[in-house]
Amino acid sequence: MTQPRQMTIPRFVAAKGGDRKLTMLTAYEYSWAEMFDESGVDSILVGDSLGMVVQGKGSTIPVTLDQIIYHAEIVCRAVKRALVIVDLPFMTYEVSPEQAVTNAGRILKETGAAAVKIEGSVNQARTIQALADADIPVMAHVGMRPQSVNKLGGHGRIQRDSSQIIADGKAAEQAGAFSVVVELVPQQLAAELTAALAIPTIGIGAGPHCDGQVLVSYDMLGITSSDFSPKFLKRYADLRSQATAAARSYVEEVQSGAFPDDEHSHS
Ligand code: KIV
Repeated sequence: MTQPRQMTIPRFVAAKGGDRKLTMLTAYEYSWAEMFDESGVDSILVGDSLGMVVQGKGSTIPVTLDQIIYHAEIVCRAVKRALVIVDLPFMTYEVSPEQAVTNAGRILKETGAAAVKIEGSVNQARTIQALADADIPVMAHVGMRPQSVNKLGGHGRIQRDSSQIIADGKAAEQAGAFSVVVELVPQQLAAELTAALAIPTIGIGAGPHCDGQVLVSYDMLGITSSDFSPKFLKRYADLRSQATAAARSYVEEVQSGAFPDDEHSHS
């Protein structure tokens, strides 16, 4: 089997309109990042979803710049081929374009990642432009924006304001974003946005018509609790049950004396 080529920003953008969809998964640690890279995924997002799936917090709001840099540096050491993109956490870019460039610059310098992602678009157009002007590739994020959880009054609300979503996508493209995540919008609206833009749209809960798809890896692997089951989420594995069962077997075998046996002991 021929090895897939190293994914770069120009190749990622050029995939728009090609014959296959782009793929993206989140990763936060070395071993998972290594496995996803080997799977052939195009892009790995060190998402601030780490606040929820790794840190066990109720939202992405508490994630800090130092924390995301810590995880992104680990991920980048594992990844040989996929494009690594890192979320700028809440309040590390909203204050001013200068704040965004300084913090995104730290991410690229200290982790080896190729790009950053920020939530917002029309409201962040100056910031996207400042990042692009500083040669920091930036992905925008429109539709449901998890960092706006307090303003929205909760997660998971489908965004149906079509003129706002289209305006957001166009503003991102005009300001210099190389791609845009589209979260929780009706599939027809995502299709309209995808057709209106020259840059790739990457959907999550936005139907099949985007140029690519992203899922939070802990969700698609079935590690997070099954209580979290939005309509868009497909669980490709049930690692939570498998890991719990394996740990239970280990506990039982140690308690009963079945482990370690001769096969697992030095003589
Ligand atoms: O933080 C994250 O994992 C994300 C994805 C849901 C796109 O932003």
